[in-house]
Amino acid sequence: MKKEFSLLLILFFLILSFVISKCKSPVNNESYAEPDTIDIFEYNKELGRGINLGNALEAPSEGDWGVTIREEYFSIIKKAGFDNVRIPIRWSAHTSVDSPYTINHNFINRVDQVLYQALNNDLKVIINVHHYNEIMENPDEEKAKLYSIWRQLSSHYQDFSVELSFEILNEPNDQLTPELWNVYLSDLVEIIRNKNSMRPLIIGTASWGGLSSLSDLDLPEDNRLILTLHYYEPFQFTHQGAEWVDGSDEWLGTIWRNKAAEVQSIVSDFITIDQWAAANNIPVFIGEFGAYSRADSTSRHLWTERIREEAESRNFSWAYWEFCSGFGAYDDQAGQWRNFLLNALIPE
Ligand code: BGC
Repeated sequence: MKKEFSLLLILFFLILSFVISKCKSPVNNESYAEPDTIDIFEYNKELGRGINLGNALEAPSEGDWGVTIREEYFSIIKKAGFDNVRIPIRWSAHTSVDSPYTINHNFINRVDQVLYQALNNDLKVIINVHHYNEIMENPDEEKAKLYSIWRQLSSHYQDFSVELSFEILNEPNDQLTPELWNVYLSDLVEIIRNKNSMRPLIIGTASWGGLSSLSDLDLPEDNRLILTLHYYEPFQFTHQGAEWVDGSDEWLGTIWRNKAAEVQSIVSDFITIDQWAAANNIPVFIGEFGAYSRADSTSRHLWTERIREEAESRNFSWAYWEFCSGFGAYDDQAGQWRNFLLNALIPE
């Protein structure tokens, strides 16, 4: 009798732990079957409206720049009406110094924890390689490390649901020229595809991820790519007073009032993006746009709303830069959204 009871108890706990594991993680191996195919345009539509969890995991260490991601952020973001979160990550600062550049165990565990929190809130998630400054200065020397990071990430995340997408590198610039970037891009898509055949891959342009080198971009042959561009024009408006931009104090007081001439240059940029994307049959994600907190609120509201409208009218998905730091749409101290920004992003 005692033995039967023990067996029953064991069975009960086995079933319980199975049920818990299913509930906890919709993204793990057992509960997730990779789809046979993905319509990347449909996927991009679902990517929809998003926000960057900036200044957290892409700081040298999380917290260094004043943001430590908290679980509740994801329900706040979801409840406000967003569909995706982009999570910038400085992997390059969390590997062993020498080859094979093993990613630190605690760091990847922390990223996993954040990803589960986001995915469990029914948000699509984009992770990238962010602030890899050394590779911009010395691409030849750093290339092996970038490739190794992606080999590890593609293996580690291969069983995560396709709600997780990969963005290969944030804002290539400097010595990582458009020509070199095309080579790295093609290699990296191949590396990632080895273990992630269906996962959407987000790829951007050289020259800081902007429009200026769009025409230099060679798209790898792959029908699950999304093109990303960052949009901060006019820069003197969006980056006025930005401490990391030399001379930007002189731009303080620059306003943006949705006037015909102001709108026209933005529209013309968006037309260029749209035409290029149509010609290359690729959907578009505006992965960053935002105006820094030292600009006036009326201008920030009008500009943010205009960029969102220009994107959406062309079926571009987007992610605002960013959640709760210097461009923040959310005031973490007050525990509330800045309505002049939220309303521009998610109209009622
Ligand atoms: C950078 C941030 C910066 C933002 C706007 C991002 O790509 O990672 O540090 O605040 O662009 O300049």
